[in-house]
Amino acid sequence: MAEKKQPVKITETVLRDAHQSLIATRMTTEQMLPIIDKMDQVGYHAVECWGGATFDASLRFLKEDPWDRLRKLKAGFKKTKLQMLFRGQNILGYRPYADDVVEYFVQKSIANGIDIIRIFDCLNDLRNLQTAVTATNKEKGHAQVALSYTLGDAYTLEYWTDMAKKIEEMGANSICIKDMAGLLTPYKAEELVKSLKSATSLPIELHTHYTSGVASMTYLKAVEAGCDIIDTAMSPLALGTSQPATEVMAEAFKGTAMDPGFDQMLLKEIADYFRPIREEALKSGLMNPKVLGVDIQTLLYQVPGGMLSNMVSQLKEQNAEDKYMEVLEEIPRVRKDLGEPPLVTPSSQIVGTQAVFNVLMGERYKVATKETKDVLLGKYGQTVKPFNPEIVDKVLGEDKKNAITCRYADLLEPELHKIEEEMKQWKQQDEDVLSYALFPQVATEFFKYREAQQTKVDATVADTKNGAYPV
Ligand code: CO
Repeated sequence: MAEKKQPVKITETVLRDAHQSLIATRMTTEQMLPIIDKMDQVGYHAVECWGGATFDASLRFLKEDPWDRLRKLKAGFKKTKLQMLFRGQNILGYRPYADDVVEYFVQKSIANGIDIIRIFDCLNDLRNLQTAVTATNKEKGHAQVALSYTLGDAYTLEYWTDMAKKIEEMGANSICIKDMAGLLTPYKAEELVKSLKSATSLPIELHTHYTSGVASMTYLKAVEAGCDIIDTAMSPLALGTSQPATEVMAEAFKGTAMDPGFDQMLLKEIADYFRPIREEALKSGLMNPKVLGVDIQTLLYQVPGGMLSNMVSQLKEQNAEDKYMEVLEEIPRVRKDLGEPPLVTPSSQIVGTQAVFNVLMGERYKVATKETKDVLLGKYGQTVKPFNPEIVDKVLGEDKKNAITCRYADLLEPELHKIEEEMKQWKQQDEDVLSYALFPQVATEFFKYREAQQTKVDATVADTKNGAYPV
């Protein structure tokens, strides 16, 4: 008996993952605001618009307060839910934080407008998700837990299905299959969705990238198999290392029970708005046409698109672009040494940077990064496979005895109070403490810039009052 098909729900990623994947996260709040009224009419399940790399990029490159962006988006989206991406115990940063910082970040994200928090861990260590999930439940937000999808001996259908059951038990409201590298092929997706649906009663969302060229086929098979929600991006910022196009996926289900019922004329108006942003990015070089094509290397080396572009720029800085293939082949070996983790922030940066060092130094692990050491010390959590013992000996030596198996955050003292003391001269709102907690240097630069801007404005007002400007 065929199960009854439902209209597929769609999460729009153009305001987060799509521009993070294609134009280095450089879309500004000013570029977003004029179109959100129209986007609010589409009938999206949610709009992913915050978290991931947007927080760092806002402060670092755009000189924008990410909290201010969130408040403005919330004011504009009157009926559509806002979603963010959250790196478990690493929050939106690159290292594990104490629980009090995680809890406060969740609290402030929801207070400023987030409805759905998608929480993942780069090692799929569920212990690193519990604090964020519990905090989201407490703040009455929707806690979605994401499986960081990857390939390898350990990652069997049973492994994912067992994870899904545990995720349901830990209090999540939905499950996302997060396929950041575009590794999930159509029939594998069908099998996986069916298995997860039979193991839990939670809604299942699929998130993938077009990098390897299979994504829209994967969505089709997944939705047919009962996947409830898919992530798509408006066409000017779709495909390549981004998501399948919203208009195309909506059209694909037309006339079936899975039709999301979107108005194509409205979608066209929204696409017309984003198209000049794409064209400008292509002209300025911000968007590299290379990332728009099909990259079958992702299937061969299982390297996410964003990681490839990072690696290329690291090699360029060292005048070693000719080592590209060597590094690409070194990545799966480093991944194996480190217990075969998924490659997603921050494990992707850790594995990628170590692979670059291994190749450029001419000897593997002659230099090990601090982060590689921390992985081997167990600070990022438990990997699905054991570490390579020879590499542990070479990298850690005597330090090996300090390796931990407990949840690292259990060893951390509360950090918030100390952080607030450290940055109080810059504090203008509670949220500034969290910006500083995640990116102390970048946030300080931003706070200085903000004060300078404010002084300028004050001076203008004062000058005007004094009649310094002609009326
Ligand atoms: Co993504």
